[in-house]
Amino acid sequence: MAKNKRQYVCQNCGAVASRWQGQCADCGEWNTLIEEAGETAFSAKHDLRSGGRAFALEPLDAAAALPRRMASGLAELDRALGGGFVAGSASLIGGDPGIGKSTLLLQAAGRLALDGARVAYISGEEAAAQVRLRAQRLGLGSAPVGLASATSVRDILATLGAGPPPDLLIIDSIQTMHSDVIESAPGTVSQVRASAQELIRFAKSSDCALVLVGHVTKDGSLAGPRVLEHMVDTVLAFEGERSHQYRILRAVKNRFGGTDEIGVFAMQDTGLAEVANPSSLFLTARDAAVPGAVVFPALEGTRPVLVEVQALTVRLASGATPRRAVVGWDSGRLAMILAVLEARCGLALGNAEVYLNVAGGYRLTDPAADLAVAAALVSAFSEQPVAADCVLFGEVALSGEIRPVAHAPLRLREAAKLGFSQAWTPARLAPADGIRLRGFDRLGELVDQMLSRG
Ligand code: TYD
Ligand code: MG
Repeated sequence: MAKNKRQYVCQNCGAVASRWQGQCADCGEWNTLIEEAGETAFSAKHDLRSGGRAFALEPLDAAAALPRRMASGLAELDRALGGGFVAGSASLIGGDPGIGKSTLLLQAAGRLALDGARVAYISGEEAAAQVRLRAQRLGLGSAPVGLASATSVRDILATLGAGPPPDLLIIDSIQTMHSDVIESAPGTVSQVRASAQELIRFAKSSDCALVLVGHVTKDGSLAGPRVLEHMVDTVLAFEGERSHQYRILRAVKNRFGGTDEIGVFAMQDTGLAEVANPSSLFLTARDAAVPGAVVFPALEGTRPVLVEVQALTVRLASGATPRRAVVGWDSGRLAMILAVLEARCGLALGNAEVYLNVAGGYRLTDPAADLAVAAALVSAFSEQPVAADCVLFGEVALSGEIRPVAHAPLRLREAAKLGFSQAWTPARLAPADGIRLRGFDRLGELVDQMLSRG
């Protein structure tokens, strides 16, 4: 007979250990191992094929009821959510402290409440008076939001269960909540998980849209609970540099929509303002062409965003080790572009210091930025500016070839809309309205043209 074997399961990563340990050997988290009944205890005794209740399987093409959505009236938030909050769903919004999560949700709560929705805003971090003050500053002082400062999930559910359930329930933040079914302290993985579980169960059963605020740890993951990401329907990340004005709301997971949409906001003294035209944020006033600065039409999901790529090169006396510093782009990718410029285009960048910066605190991950980076470097190195009305995009291969990239028409349209009149691109692109194209097959051709050595 199988013994009722005990095992210890890490509540953070799910690793199984046979003995209790203070630290999980797999993920390195402390105090996450919890004793659970081993599987053998069940499987030896019970044959799972008998005794269950049978249910009918449904066809995939049965008429599906579309989920009921509530548009928050903040177009950028609705866009990231795929059209608004979904009734009966749970969302998690994560971000660094001070990035504006509470502000964003208070604004959404206020707008929805003014539209007649029942909204409850539970803050576990700030006193009700603090939230009220902020609402006044946001011009939402008269919005009929049900406000409370509470941390006990049992009390919260008792309160909400007493009246008609809210349409939107905001919990700020899940790390401050505690459920008395679990003994550990608030903020621990098991507390967060248990609290979230009860709140989600309430949301599903009462058809209310639940939004959980989650803190982000130093390494950028949602604190403790990756588990939380599995439990909720939608995960939104609120990003941005605190020292910069703009904030990007990105859907990381969405069971009711795509994850390629972003919402762009600017933090102002009256709260978060929607930014319908993100390019205006990242393109600093550009009148004259400056050596080393070029404009790249980036894509955020399906949205084009024009950003400025800046390079600076400083020639060193031979012998010294040149420094390479990069902000907003991948340093490995920069090394690759430098190598291609050196090996395929005969540019002696080897003993020049190279600095690369993406303006506005923006972070580029799109490989289509290669050509813009290369042109910025050549322009800085040769002190020949690229025309101020020109955008550049294309992927550079190690061979020095310039490869086509996704969504070229979208990028061109956005550039034309913002008054750019020429584009340097991979060869053989379909022509676009209002913008003159110049295609390149190889990076060498572009370098020749810039240095007028062709
Ligand atoms: P907050 O929403 O409290 O951030 P989080 O909940 O993510 O921790 O945002 C706090 C920051 O936003 C704070 O540093 C001040 C700034 N802020 C403004 O600049 N303008 C405003 O109108 C508000 C409400 C906040
Ligand atoms: Mg907050």
